[in-house]
Amino acid sequence: MWVLYPEELQEYNYSPEKILETIFENSNEGLLVVGENGRVLQINDSLALTLKSTPDKMIGKPLTEVCKHSGLRKLIKIIKNGVPEFGKIDSIEGRSFLVDYLPIKNNQRIQGALAKIKFLNPERSGNQEIDENTAKTRVKKKQSAVFYTVDHIIGNSPQLIDLKETLLKVAPRNSNVLITGESGTGKELFAQAIHAASLRRSGPFIKINCAAIPDTLLESEFFGYEEGAFTGGKKGGQTGKLELANGGTVFLDEIGDLSFALQAKLLRFIQEKEIQKLGAGDTKISDVRVVVATNVNLEQMVKYKKFREDLYYRLNVVNFSIPPLRERKEDIFELAECFIEKFNRLFGFQVTGISEEVQNVFQKYFWPGNVRELENVIERAFNVMEGNVIEKQHLPSHLITLVDSDNHGAGKSVLQQESDLGITFSEGQTLEEIMNRTEKLIIIQALKNSKGNKAKASQMLGISRPGLYKKLVKYNLV
Ligand SMILES: Nc1ncnc2c1ncn2[C@@H]1O[C@H](COP(=O)(O)OP(=O)(O)OP(=O)(O)O)[C@@H](O)[C@H]1O
Ligand SMILES: [Mg+2]
Repeated sequence: MWVLYPEELQEYNYSPEKILETIFENSNEGLLVVGENGRVLQINDSLALTLKSTPDKMIGKPLTEVCKHSGLRKLIKIIKNGVPEFGKIDSIEGRSFLVDYLPIKNNQRIQGALAKIKFLNPERSGNQEIDENTAKTRVKKKQSAVFYTVDHIIGNSPQLIDLKETLLKVAPRNSNVLITGESGTGKELFAQAIHAASLRRSGPFIKINCAAIPDTLLESEFFGYEEGAFTGGKKGGQTGKLELANGGTVFLDEIGDLSFALQAKLLRFIQEKEIQKLGAGDTKISDVRVVVATNVNLEQMVKYKKFREDLYYRLNVVNFSIPPLRERKEDIFELAECFIEKFNRLFGFQVTGISEEVQNVFQKYFWPGNVRELENVIERAFNVMEGNVIEKQHLPSHLITLVDSDNHGAGKSVLQQESDLGITFSEGQTLEEIMNRTEKLIIIQALKNSKGNKAKASQMLGISRPGLYKKLVKYNLV
């Protein structure tokens, strides 16, 4: 590695140790080196701190003695067998990371091993510092992890550039945010990135899925309850998530599913910042920024009196409307590359890209499940492929059908090709109606292909199970 010989290093007064030390201490990654005798040779401050120690306390000691983390002890195995391992996912103290284990070889002799750790949530949440040992804090830590920042939002289409610029402008202010977009467009990713770019980033980020929790429980989930507030409640009661989110952000997903009664209570909270636990007499102030997301048209819900108008305006101070993937096709290639990189790390593969034929299909496909579906299609390809380019035969069958109809349609006008796909038009129909009819057909086909198995069908479509259920209700398919 050194371009200078030892005597030259001396002459120029270069110190390899100093250079290594600088690299170690300034790396964004956690680095740990163990010698062939299994003792720690080097560890950087940040990783030692995460392991609740310091380099001084660890260097020179057997790894098994100073490192309680069973994953990192794998270095001992790497020293024995000399086989590198890439892209393993693990966690320390609730922080997820990707780790590569590499043997250090000199003339075919293993001299030690290196662990390179990349944390997926770059910052520690401030509340992690408090009272590490209580069970409550552990729950808080789990819920408050933010994995994504604006840098994780991939896409250079004008729409996405615009959204990312707005995000950076709006995030430091405290306004409530409404994020809209179809399923799989990245609403949660945006919510996390807003928190990460805000002044509240060291506070908690707490998510509540309003569709996943029955209404009767949702109120106590929001506000908490005192011991004895109702039969079956926990001893000591429970702190509500709006209180746990104090100093941070609460992300209310699928806000369109919130009952009318809870909408009124949420509105009161947004106006007064006051929380009253169920069964409690007193109130508390909680300073929380509210970010909500939905894939239903809230304006329509307001129009049909299904959603309170006053709450809608309170929430819709800033609106991020994320366009579906089919409306920003220039993002597809960059996203695909990013997912290939991700799965290369996870699978230990060296996939270099996608064939031209697949690129064409990706450009033509409707992507009903948006970015999530693209990610699933690429992951699926990694599971069935052997070479290092994603080819047509690695795609799910509904995409292959599209490739075939695409080849078949070569040289035809766009209109002729549309009719080859079985889409018919009748007078007076709007684009939205045609889209809905097509979406219904796609769902029926997915259910047929999965033999009625809804979990499989939702996976095939790259949408969540609750997302599929909603569509089944919408199209009277239940
Ligand atoms: N622009 C993007 N760059 C990188 N990854 C993205 C992007 N948009 C979405 N993703 C990824 O796609 C997946 C789905 O995103 P996310 O969960 O945020 O979607 P959603 O809009 O909340 O979907 P749903 O309505 O079904 O809950 C995630 O794995 C997310 O990381
Ligand atoms: Mg979501």
